[in-house]
Amino acid sequence: MSVSRCGLSAAYRMRNDDLVLLPWIGPRRRLFSSSVLPKLPARLTAPQKAGGDRCLFAGLAGDLRLHVQGVRLDAEHLLPAAALSRAVAGSLELAAKQSAERVVVCLDAATPKLVKAAFEGAVLGSYRFDRYLRKRKKRIPVLLVVGKTVDAAGRAALRDRKVLLTCVNFARDMQNEPPNVLKPSVLAERFRKAGEASGLRVEVWDERRLARERCGGILGVGMGCRARPRMVIARYRPRTVAGHLCLVGKGVTFDSGGYGLKPATSQVGMKYDMSGAAVVFAAACAIAKLKLPIQITVITPIAENSVSGEAMPTTSILKTRSGRTVEVEHTDAEGRLMLADALALAGEQKADWIVDAATLTGAAVVALGEDMAAVFGTDRALTRSLVDAGMDEDEMFWELPLHMPYRDLLKATIADTRNVATSKWGGAITAAVFLRQWVEDGTPWIHCDIAGPGVKEEPLGHLGKGGKGFGVKALVEFARKLSAGEKV
Ligand code: BES
Ligand code: ZN
Ligand code: ZN
Repeated sequence: MSVSRCGLSAAYRMRNDDLVLLPWIGPRRRLFSSSVLPKLPARLTAPQKAGGDRCLFAGLAGDLRLHVQGVRLDAEHLLPAAALSRAVAGSLELAAKQSAERVVVCLDAATPKLVKAAFEGAVLGSYRFDRYLRKRKKRIPVLLVVGKTVDAAGRAALRDRKVLLTCVNFARDMQNEPPNVLKPSVLAERFRKAGEASGLRVEVWDERRLARERCGGILGVGMGCRARPRMVIARYRPRTVAGHLCLVGKGVTFDSGGYGLKPATSQVGMKYDMSGAAVVFAAACAIAKLKLPIQITVITPIAENSVSGEAMPTTSILKTRSGRTVEVEHTDAEGRLMLADALALAGEQKADWIVDAATLTGAAVVALGEDMAAVFGTDRALTRSLVDAGMDEDEMFWELPLHMPYRDLLKATIADTRNVATSKWGGAITAAVFLRQWVEDGTPWIHCDIAGPGVKEEPLGHLGKGGKGFGVKALVEFARKLSAGEKV
């Protein structure tokens, strides 16, 4: 991973080859004071168009070479904060093209909320996954010129934010790693390392332990691959707690479909099928590092869904941890088989709330597109609280119904249930209904199908190509609300 440095400064001292970003809201409201740019020759006015940016000046200011870019944050469909994060990420790209040495964002007349958004644009917008490139591009530092708008408390808040955003970038690193490198044991060890460094107690179950623990769902999915499955269980137990949250994430390091093989073009993107695991694990690391007063257990079943002579044949019957058996009508519906074991284990933890995240169904992407996740829940207020946390964090979740009558579509004759519905319609819902069979009655549960934003390759907002770490920020904000006892 490479991320540029992002610093704060009270005043701006111009340097050669700076790219200076000047933000406006509307044509008149400047987020910077004119005194930050003493040497500029021309009077600078906002770009004409709402949302538009333009080069206001490129050339010598005194004896310094400068690029000055103006941007108007009153873009349609976007709040100014979101527009500013995107603008900073855009400036980083422009700076690379124009060989600028540094991006300077002048914000000394902005609100703390906008400074926070610019900071996020810098930390997440400068993320590059370049470890496999022979020639890596130079990292471009960002300087936020904030005058007196950020006091000591504001600086501490930004330090905490940096901790969170670094965890988002950790999730992105895991997502972007190719599947020939990121085998189940490798992902498990990376989780162990990151978890222990964050203050989590980490346990890794190997194949033998999984067998002893009766995790037939995970073992069934993983048996087609020489790289054997794992389950990572990590715990954070602070001294004072407001409750116990159990996070569960699907960790399929590559989903070929198994014997129900996906066509080649659909296999592209399936290295991201471990996004749920990466996102919940990164969120747990952030919660521990930020020392939130909430107990966390994170459970991530990890396997590669592969094809080989050992892979499970279609119509296999697997016995999951709860004792419930599943007839595998489609080997490509593998995530739910692994989550069955993991949700059963989650129930045994006696947590107050269970939340899972999984790139579970193409149907969720058909329903909502690539930019947002589908959520299902057994408790409306709790689900609402996660949706709101997402709104606050510029991550969109939309609730779909957990329509239990669809349970009839999952009836099997020689096993307790089948893994795909008999109807091809409503696939995201029938998957959620399938999972519910392993959720303890009485424990509020939320299921997030992040197949869209979890697998999206193209840029999203201020996040560039590749993994987005979608959901880390929302889950941490959700946990913060729970830990603060805010009404859910
Ligand atoms: N990992 C996929 C779901 C997926 C598909 C995520 C496309 C992101 C983009 C999952 O394991 C899967 O293959 N699901 C099947 C289920 C079907 C066989 C009932 C699907 O959605 O096609
Ligand atoms: Zn699949
Ligand atoms: Zn999958």
